[in-house]
Amino acid sequence: MKILILGSGGREHALAWKIAQSTLVTKIFIAPGNAGTELFGENIQINPDDFNSVGEFVIENKVEMVVVGPEVPLVNGISDYFLDNDRLKSISVIGPVKKGAMLEGSKDFAKSFMGKYGIPTARHKTFDADSREEAFQFLETMDTPYVLKADGLAAGKGVVILNDYQKAVDELNSMFDGKLGEAGKKVLLEEFMDGIELSVFVLTDGKTYKILPEAKDYKRIGEGDTGLNTGGMGAVSPVPFADRNFLSKVETRIIQPTIKGMIREKIDYKGFVFFGLMNVKGDPYVVEYNVRMGDPEAEVIIPRIKSDLVDLFVAVSESKLSNKVIEIDQRTAVTVMLVSEGYPGSYDKGKVIKSLEKVKDSILFYAGACRKGNEIFTNGGRVIAVSSYGSDKDQALSRSYRNAQIISFDKKYYRRDIGFDL
Ligand code: AMP
Ligand code: GLY
Repeated sequence: MKILILGSGGREHALAWKIAQSTLVTKIFIAPGNAGTELFGENIQINPDDFNSVGEFVIENKVEMVVVGPEVPLVNGISDYFLDNDRLKSISVIGPVKKGAMLEGSKDFAKSFMGKYGIPTARHKTFDADSREEAFQFLETMDTPYVLKADGLAAGKGVVILNDYQKAVDELNSMFDGKLGEAGKKVLLEEFMDGIELSVFVLTDGKTYKILPEAKDYKRIGEGDTGLNTGGMGAVSPVPFADRNFLSKVETRIIQPTIKGMIREKIDYKGFVFFGLMNVKGDPYVVEYNVRMGDPEAEVIIPRIKSDLVDLFVAVSESKLSNKVIEIDQRTAVTVMLVSEGYPGSYDKGKVIKSLEKVKDSILFYAGACRKGNEIFTNGGRVIAVSSYGSDKDQALSRSYRNAQIISFDKKYYRRDIGFDL
């Protein structure tokens, strides 16, 4: 089978690495891919958001399955585009239809869905520019810190947590006035949840689901979880505090009602569901849904899946996932992200990456890295995810940290405290 993977990050490198291990695959294409994905297939210069070009490529090259990495094409309806086109509807797309992708694309939609199906989450109210005054009044009734969330996709910039009432009013005004474009025209004011975050993932065919390993992501740029939000600076799986009791609450209170809700709403959801959760005194609450794998969570979860991922994807597209068993590697996997200094603000690109050949006992998943001739250069904020297995977290971390030190490029930065709080 020929497979096309859409995306260009460490997550897509991890997907390509895993998909290449399947006996069912004859060829992998990645659009647009990066220096890592091309080790497993052919990178093609097509923008995943240009559905016509993706569709043409799929037909011309007899691709049978499309695996969608990032959220934007899903929220823009790539699965529906395939289903609505006579020449494309037989192609399997791993990623939900637009209505399912709204669980990530609109936080207001996600909250209504959770409300309707009794899924625990922080209480909230949604406002827009026309209900500005009511928003300010509601803010006065809230306890601090105030959590303000843009309704739409905002590339990690849509959530602001503030202690000061006036700052919250100013932030609300600037969102209503278009600071985040359309994404911020509706804003949710949400109760703050005090707890520790983790993410749980499932693969679903829209009827049944398989639980994948959970992970903890480190989102802030600075050690001790300080500074600006990033796409993610590292991850650990499994998560020690997510014991059997907690995970069984997640399954019965969150996963099962979510799948049941999708069935009731007639959402044909085929793909990953990423449950961003808060553990508040032992009880799980949903912080957010994402409709894809996480990045860098994929760089620890995918290495822990022992089963053939393509075989599972085929079962997803045929709605036969209930026949499958997922085998999970019991080892711990961690990843440490090497980034360009300055990220998530501005940073330089085009720095040569050295000593990659000296890396032992880790798997490198490239993100913002490109190849020119025989050399690899930095090409983005997040550059390389250094993933390692270990019999425990400490062993896995010592491997990743040893290699994080060995790999060198000008203005390399990484957090030195991934997993230390666990
Ligand atoms: P989101 O994009 O909804 O995942 O929010 C980004 C981050 O903001 C989350 O990963 C949390 O760290 C934090 N956050 C969001 N909502 C809340 C909340 N209600 N209470 C506490 N922290 C939150
Ligand atoms: N690492 C968080 C995300 O992928 O959304």
